[in-house]
Amino acid sequence: MITRSTGRLAVCFIAVAAVRIAASETPLLEPVSAFDRITDERARSAALFVEAAKVITSPRCMNCHPSTREVTQGDDLHPHVPYVSAGRYGAGAPALPCRACHGSSNTTTLADSIRSIPGSPGWALAPASMAWQGKSVREICEQIQDPARNGGKSLDKLRQHMAADPVVAWGFQPGDGRIPAPGSQVELAALIDAWIATGAQCPQR
Ligand code: HEC
Ligand code: HEC
Repeated sequence: MITRSTGRLAVCFIAVAAVRIAASETPLLEPVSAFDRITDERARSAALFVEAAKVITSPRCMNCHPSTREVTQGDDLHPHVPYVSAGRYGAGAPALPCRACHGSSNTTTLADSIRSIPGSPGWALAPASMAWQGKSVREICEQIQDPARNGGKSLDKLRQHMAADPVVAWGFQPGDGRIPAPGSQVELAALIDAWIATGAQCPQR
């Protein structure tokens, strides 16, 4: 017999299970169309960047855009183990380049502790002027579109980098044992496109 209280208990279990499933899934990105309701174009532009910043501020991107020249790892942005020097060009010191360990694609290991070694073409630390860790979304928004700090990129080049760079692509397929950046590279590019088309405005903070 199903009493009132067992019924309630069942509902409770289902609710807990639903929350668990929701928590374990990667949060998705809102599509560009979700921002149509914001009629003010400047406000819409800033809101589009805030959405794209869910990717930009994810640990997968942040680890290569540290505030110091120290590479970080994991979801808690801890220092890279072993210590590696970024070297002059970000690709490591001559004696220990990044490519000594990071190949052109992810390599699955048989270890439980580190299930894969990340890899993609062009694996290197972002230059100092492109440091993002510890900055607000507004600060990143201003810096990312400043050619003096973004490697001389026009807005169109910036868009192409987001849409097609292999290291950005890696963020969405980061290998076993790592949580991907939210959404997809196609969705990120669409948000960046729409942000540029509306004047590349930055949020208040
Ligand atoms: C393996 C290290 C690495 C990872 C991971 C990484 N980046 Fe970068 N990023 C770089 C390097 C190196 C550059 C400089 C390349 C250049 O200017 O062409 C760069 C530059 C950029 C730029 C150019 C503008 C600027 O001011 O930073 C953007 C935009 C960018 N990355 C976005 C991303 C996003 C989005 C992610 C995550 C999905 C990401 N990056 C993850 C290494 C990385
Ligand atoms: C001695 C081997 C080795 C060298 C050299 C090396 N790495 Fe790594 N790196 C690893 C391993 C292994 C991992 C995975 C660690 C883990 O998942 O706990 C890793 C993880 C990372 C991550 C973290 C990815 C994430 O989002 O969690 C970044 C970023 C990174 N390395 C960048 C670099 C850069 C940039 C260089 C060169 C300056 C470099 N590494 C040199 C072995 C190395």
